[in-house]
Amino acid sequence: MLRTQSSAVRELLKYSKMPNVISLAGGIPAPDLFDIPGLEGALDEEISEHNRDSFQYGITEGEPRLRQQIVAFMLQRGIRTTAENVLVTAGSQQGLDLIARVFLNPGDTILVERPAYLAALQVFTLAEARMLSVPTDEQGINVEQVEAILSNESVKAIYLVPNFGNPSGCTLTFERRQRLVQLACRYRVLIIEDDPYGEIRLQGEHIPSLYEIAQGVPGAEDSVLYLSSFSKILAPGLRTGWMVVPGEVYGHLAVAKQAIDLHTCTLSQRIIERYMASGRLQPRLSVLRASYRERRDALCAALRRHLGNAIQFNTPDGGMFLWGCFTSGVDASMVLKHAINAGVVFVPGEPFFFDAPERNTLRLSYSTITPASADEAARRLATALHHANSH
Ligand SMILES: Cc1ncc(COP(=O)(O)O)c(C=O)c1O
Repeated sequence: MLRTQSSAVRELLKYSKMPNVISLAGGIPAPDLFDIPGLEGALDEEISEHNRDSFQYGITEGEPRLRQQIVAFMLQRGIRTTAENVLVTAGSQQGLDLIARVFLNPGDTILVERPAYLAALQVFTLAEARMLSVPTDEQGINVEQVEAILSNESVKAIYLVPNFGNPSGCTLTFERRQRLVQLACRYRVLIIEDDPYGEIRLQGEHIPSLYEIAQGVPGAEDSVLYLSSFSKILAPGLRTGWMVVPGEVYGHLAVAKQAIDLHTCTLSQRIIERYMASGRLQPRLSVLRASYRERRDALCAALRRHLGNAIQFNTPDGGMFLWGCFTSGVDASMVLKHAINAGVVFVPGEPFFFDAPERNTLRLSYSTITPASADEAARRLATALHHANSH
């Protein structure tokens, strides 16, 4: 426990709640895009039936009707599964914890992206796993380096966010996905595919998941565990996500969940099940994509306008994050100190590196800004950078 650090992102949330501070720090979905009438309708329906079951203990694996809805939803993403393979979790974060408890012994090696999702690094640190970070570029994790490691040492699992990574914004290409599945099969390594952002594609074509690809490769069918969530597409406070688990390991994960929390909140699951049954999810996803596209474009344009060559960043195909670096090489945490005074916050890149951090990097989230606040945020960031560069 003592080796596990508090999340820098959660610490920064306190600044983002201050008046007059524009936050580019949160990884949170936009509250103005929550479908309140839709959620209210689903809740009212559930309550008005005076269904005592909605307040009762539930099944560890998840509410049966919700699992059926998830099966249908997964099919639209190209994943063919059955309710028996769907495990409802308290967010995908719990899915990661369950996997760590079931699969990772202290000292086991797990490959993570460089940079990687911070709270996954926390989970693997708590599990006392040995992490090795593999560089990513615009096409996702470097598969040659993965192969070089696998051919040299024993690795238990590879953890990936293949769509619009947090924090990198990168998307793993189809070719690399195929290659990774083949490698996982050859070296008997588990792939943990964490996909909370897949539905928030803002441009380009859908790429089949590693899970789907593995189903078509003889011998690889059981090598991918898929995780996703209602947090980014509906509401994170409902704390509901799911895993698609092939083969025998399902039972072990369900037993781990029994021991941890018995089951995910019944009422949350029933609200989501009714919401999905009402047919509102697909139109809502279109609203989310249009809004996040507008916000992404506004932030990219504002950064170019106010910071020019002083910052380099990618334009992600989806999700919520820009990943960039200050070209002067200045430490982003120094810039953050000035940025707080200037009234803007972001997350310095350092905590996303398990080792050898690149200190001039930063993560910027566009999810909660408006085009007007994007401009002001970039203006303030330019002021902060100017101060940091001249110190
Ligand atoms: C890559 C990634 N995985 C998992 C999570 C956890 O999400 P949930 O709210 O479903 O637990 C997040 C949340 O930001 C995330 O970015």
